[in-house]
Amino acid sequence: MKEKILIVDDDEGVRQVLSQSLSEAGYRISSAESGEKAVSAVREETFDLVILDMVLPRVDGMEVLKEITALRPEMPVVMITGYASVETAIKAMKMGAVDYIVKPFRMEEVELVVGKALERSHLRRENVYLRRQLETTYGVHNITGQSPVMRRIFALIEQVASSRSTVLITGASGTGKELVARALHFNGDRRNRPFVSVNCGGIPDTLLEDELFGHVKGAFTDAVADRPGRFESADTGTLFLDEIGNMSMSLQIKLLRVLQEREFLPLGGTKKVQVDVRIIAATNMNLKAMMEEGKFREDLYYRLNVIHIQLPSLRERSEDVPLLIQHFLNKYCREMNVPAKRFTPEAMKALMEFSWPGNVRQLENVIERAVALSFGKLELGPEDLPRDILDEGLVEMPVLHVGGDGFSLDEVLADYEQRMLYQALEHAGWVKTRAAELLKIKRTTLIEKMKRLGIPLKGAVERGTSPLASGEAETIEPATEPGAHN
Ligand SMILES: Nc1ncnc2c1ncn2[C@@H]1O[C@H](COP(=O)(O)OP(=O)(O)OP(=O)(O)O)[C@@H](O)[C@H]1O
Ligand SMILES: [Mg+2]
Repeated sequence: MKEKILIVDDDEGVRQVLSQSLSEAGYRISSAESGEKAVSAVREETFDLVILDMVLPRVDGMEVLKEITALRPEMPVVMITGYASVETAIKAMKMGAVDYIVKPFRMEEVELVVGKALERSHLRRENVYLRRQLETTYGVHNITGQSPVMRRIFALIEQVASSRSTVLITGASGTGKELVARALHFNGDRRNRPFVSVNCGGIPDTLLEDELFGHVKGAFTDAVADRPGRFESADTGTLFLDEIGNMSMSLQIKLLRVLQEREFLPLGGTKKVQVDVRIIAATNMNLKAMMEEGKFREDLYYRLNVIHIQLPSLRERSEDVPLLIQHFLNKYCREMNVPAKRFTPEAMKALMEFSWPGNVRQLENVIERAVALSFGKLELGPEDLPRDILDEGLVEMPVLHVGGDGFSLDEVLADYEQRMLYQALEHAGWVKTRAAELLKIKRTTLIEKMKRLGIPLKGAVERGTSPLASGEAETIEPATEPGAHN
């Protein structure tokens, strides 16, 4: 799309020269011969750039500049000025003009200045856009949950986001620690400053030290140039130390010193580097227990633990599960460009009853997989869920009451077997081949057991719950293996 430029000059000759050559250069041109007309044009239309003469009759260029930047602060303005008044041009730049052209000018020069001004303004707009995207991705409101414990965490995030105090985030794997760390950054004063994340687990000590504090040229054989560490990159922003529990004792001491003194020495360096960095640390380990075992320094722990955010496991906030399911269904249907899908009540039941050892991450993966593998289907059933989620429901132990008289093992086992069979059949929509698969037994064995345990072979028909329950229906079983779709 062609960019729109407004030319404001009372000199008709200048307007013509500029209009002609800039439209030849591919821009769309409007022009105005007075300040008043320029202001009303800007009020009515959006321009990508304004070229504004400094000296205009009645309302002069400076006054016009002030008015149009108030109307559209993001629109770049380039001033035209006579040789004698370069100083006023500089004053104009302080007031928000992005550049100036001195009369008499050559057209190549004008095109260069215009091109640069437009490019800068694109970049700026793109940055604003990216930043907004980050904010919507990481804002507090994107952390899904309405359980009391999550509400308390949201309140705490808003309360401490802008403070410089160190935050320690703990919680099991997949509970959203990184999400919270980002929410803290993007909701605080430092949101427009860098957010730098370092994973302290899984890399050797010396590498991690180099990563954190950087080195100067010649510090070691491969150090061919100065390389700033993450502490320096995060200056004025936030440094997220993920998996802090994996940091070695010797590095813990160094980190503690930096936290205390707010300055450090890069490897091989002689000059201390000072930084203003907000630290957020996270771990899924039990730091208190590690302290007792002498694996985590107590002094560092208290330095980090100024504000503590403890994320609950998903099981502790199971009331949030439906909300999260909806959130991820929306997310992945949108991402994969498919119409909104939903889970059948049976699938919902299995999802609600599952224990989610992998927490939100596991739930997210399950939903992503279900959406990805279900193709044209709008309703996702148990068959779209991974085996372990269905299996857990099946192996749940029945509650046994051992009275003084004992109990008949055969009866209890038969009762248990019957319940398991019913569950599998329900999950399978009473398709026996499928139920047998779930139970990892042969179809003929299943039918034998059903007869022995008095389970009606066409149970669902009598109960009126499944359209697939007649004998013939078994031949049109839905495909369940991923590869069988398409
Ligand atoms: N409350 C939530 N709302 C929406 N998405 C969430 C929520 N909690 C976690 N997630 C998502 O779950 C996934 C795992 O979250 P995250 O990486 O923050 O977990 P973590 O606690 O850092 O895990 P680990 O200890 O394994 O590094 C991410 O994709 C994240 O977006
Ligand atoms: Mg993490």
